[in-house]
Amino acid sequence: MRLITSVHTAQNIFLKLKQQGKRTGFVPTMGAFHEGHLSLMRQARKECDVVVVSLFVNPAQFGPKEDLSRYPRDLGKDRALAASAGADYLFVPRASDMYAPEFLTRVRVDVLSDGLCGRFRPGHFDGVVLVVAKLLNIVQPERMFLGQKDAQQVAVIRRMTDDLNFSVKLRVCPVVREKDGLAMSSRNRYLSDEDRVRAAGIYAALSAAREAVARGESDAQRIILQIKQLINDGTGASIEYVSCVDIKTLKDVGKINGKVMIAVAARVGNTRLIDNIIVRPSS
Ligand code: PAF
Repeated sequence: MRLITSVHTAQNIFLKLKQQGKRTGFVPTMGAFHEGHLSLMRQARKECDVVVVSLFVNPAQFGPKEDLSRYPRDLGKDRALAASAGADYLFVPRASDMYAPEFLTRVRVDVLSDGLCGRFRPGHFDGVVLVVAKLLNIVQPERMFLGQKDAQQVAVIRRMTDDLNFSVKLRVCPVVREKDGLAMSSRNRYLSDEDRVRAAGIYAALSAAREAVARGESDAQRIILQIKQLINDGTGASIEYVSCVDIKTLKDVGKINGKVMIAVAARVGNTRLIDNIIVRPSS
């Protein structure tokens, strides 16, 4: 696996691969790899000729009080993990190369960026779509692999790539979970031992909601209330939101009568965690 740090070199290499007719699969990441990232890389390996993984802790998507400076970084370990998952290139651009001092451009996806996590992380999705648009222009992949855990990010990126005519195909891979159900996340490593145990209660609450829907419950407000109660009682987490939304528009639904996403964001200790499940009514 080759490590590339220069944007210019990356552009030359990836353009040549495209001209040679290679199908490039791209996995954008911020590093601190876990099984979730590795599952995306393995899927890209299965489907594509060339696998490119980017590792860039993107300052544009962190708020002023967020964890940019303490975001976990371990290039040596990530490098070995990406190679073991079949990556051909690990692209680790320098921040000064990605955002030169004269940089002035913004990208924004309205509406989809504003609800759910957008309410609590203003500007976050603007930073995400900005860097993803830049990375797509550099890597020129045929396919991009994203995780369903970041469902709002997927919806926002999908809108951006459609609206701006990027020809990339999005492949969305399932949430990868720990044995007790906790969705894998680079931020899980912030959790104390005690908080780590409590954090599993988020998925337990979502699973209980799935069972309630399977038993015929279709009222979104009742489901939201049930999840909030379970999270409050079982984890003591501080809930940011619990929402039942349409999977494409991310608009709140009142009734579960089609495919609906139930999404949660909560703080366990100082760690902000998100998770979601897709439910559909029993027929
Ligand atoms: O999901 C992430 O790790 C980031 O938001 C992404 C897509 C790599 C953009 O920085």
